[in-house]
Amino acid sequence: MVADLFENLFDELRREDIAPGAALLHGFARAQQHELIAAIDAIVARAPFRHMMTPGGHTMSVAMTSCGSAGWVTDRGGYRYAANDPASGQPWPEMPAVLRDLARNAAAEAGFAGFDPDACLINRYAPGARMALHQDKDERDFSAPIVSVSLGLPAIFQFGGMARSDKPRRYELRHGDVLVWGGETRLVYHGVLALKDGEHPLLGRQRINLTFRKAL
Ligand code: SIN
Ligand code: FE2
Repeated sequence: MVADLFENLFDELRREDIAPGAALLHGFARAQQHELIAAIDAIVARAPFRHMMTPGGHTMSVAMTSCGSAGWVTDRGGYRYAANDPASGQPWPEMPAVLRDLARNAAAEAGFAGFDPDACLINRYAPGARMALHQDKDERDFSAPIVSVSLGLPAIFQFGGMARSDKPRRYELRHGDVLVWGGETRLVYHGVLALKDGEHPLLGRQRINLTFRKAL
């Protein structure tokens, strides 16, 4: 009994090294789930989720917003970081300490001490929403890692290679998991398969992802 309990606790907080520079920190954000959700709610009250348009004219199935000194945006003019929310013309909400500290701690746990994110993209997936394979390459400096926090419904994450044609490996990302990739794998292709419907006890029928970056 007791041995089982310890094994489960250990498994929930396991660090899985998935590639050079890439670690999946199972359950790393779980202890702060309530503070994180409250912080996200406060951001969304000022900068609501919206479905942006790709440069090619497709509306994204994932709804997005941002906090921090830069927010990732896309429209007919291309992908970029912007200091102001184009929907309001106001600066993005500041990055709350609970978010920044979580990202810093996760990066350090994965071997990237001193991570200082200035942008946090907040992605909301409703059932069926997906993100096609892409590289994160709109940032100025690729020496900082990407820190990606998953909350709500589980999703299948595709972790590919340096070429779009490299067959991606699949990982299930669950509520509280944090995935960090940087160094040799900073520019890997990655994506998220269409979200399967379900009901999460705290977040209902959705998945929220926080993607922290050093953009500027
Ligand atoms: C992203 O690549 O921006 C999102 C990744 C995710 O939702 O897990
Ligand atoms: Fe990405």
